[in-house]
Amino acid sequence: MGTIDPARLPKHIGIIMDGNGRWARMRNLQRTAGHKEGLKSAKAVIGRAAELGIQYVTLFTFSTENWRRSQDEVKFLFNLINVYLRKEMDFYRKHKIRVIHTGNTENLPEQVRKELMSVRDDTADFPGLTVNIAINYGSRDQILRAISRLFENGQKMVDEKTLRSCFDNPEVPDADLVIRTAGEKRLSNFLLWESAYAELYFSEKLWPDWTGDDLDTAIIDYQGRTRRYGGAE
Ligand code: IPE
Ligand code: IPE
Ligand code: MG
Repeated sequence: MGTIDPARLPKHIGIIMDGNGRWARMRNLQRTAGHKEGLKSAKAVIGRAAELGIQYVTLFTFSTENWRRSQDEVKFLFNLINVYLRKEMDFYRKHKIRVIHTGNTENLPEQVRKELMSVRDDTADFPGLTVNIAINYGSRDQILRAISRLFENGQKMVDEKTLRSCFDNPEVPDADLVIRTAGEKRLSNFLLWESAYAELYFSEKLWPDWTGDDLDTAIIDYQGRTRRYGGAE
């Protein structure tokens, strides 16, 4: 296997962390146990991304479609977010990680909204990796909210730049690399606009089995690709 070229790192990596439920089922555990284990992978992968000097990672944590799951599972996921988001303050400080949120805040539980705002404020000055947590996030919802904002401003003509400037975090650039774990090969409404020219990387491994080394492998694979953006060599 090759090594990572620090001069050609993807600036923004999006990760669809999938397979928590299957990881648990294989062990005869509740799906929730898989989510808890998945949290460890998130920490390991984020730690590695920070170490490598990656600038942005967007973590798909809860989609606008995930409300279809049982009430118990939804409740468990939000509780996990509430408990762990700020608990990791030492970890953010150590790695200089800034935490931001993307997604629709309208129907988020009040406590989750508060935790997200508070962790955003507490980490706002950290200069390292920006972790963009996608909670109650769906690309279509993001695009529609941006369009609504433009309408509210009285805008009648829209170009890519103005639309993009109305996204939740306009400073987060387009994705260079989108990773999905657990063998599924779809985007499930994740970063549709931002991944127009992203390289896609699919891993058979379930998310709770992912480690920092798997991120290295994905980045090395990415660095072996030729990005043409429609041009010719
Ligand atoms: C991803 O794992 C976590 C979330 C979507 C919150 P899943 O819970 O989708 O795991 P599988 O796909 O059922 O294995
Ligand atoms: C996508 O995974 C959402 C997150 C990882 C948060 P899902 O497991 O919900 O996606 P589908 O339903 O298999 O497409
Ligand atoms: Mg899944």
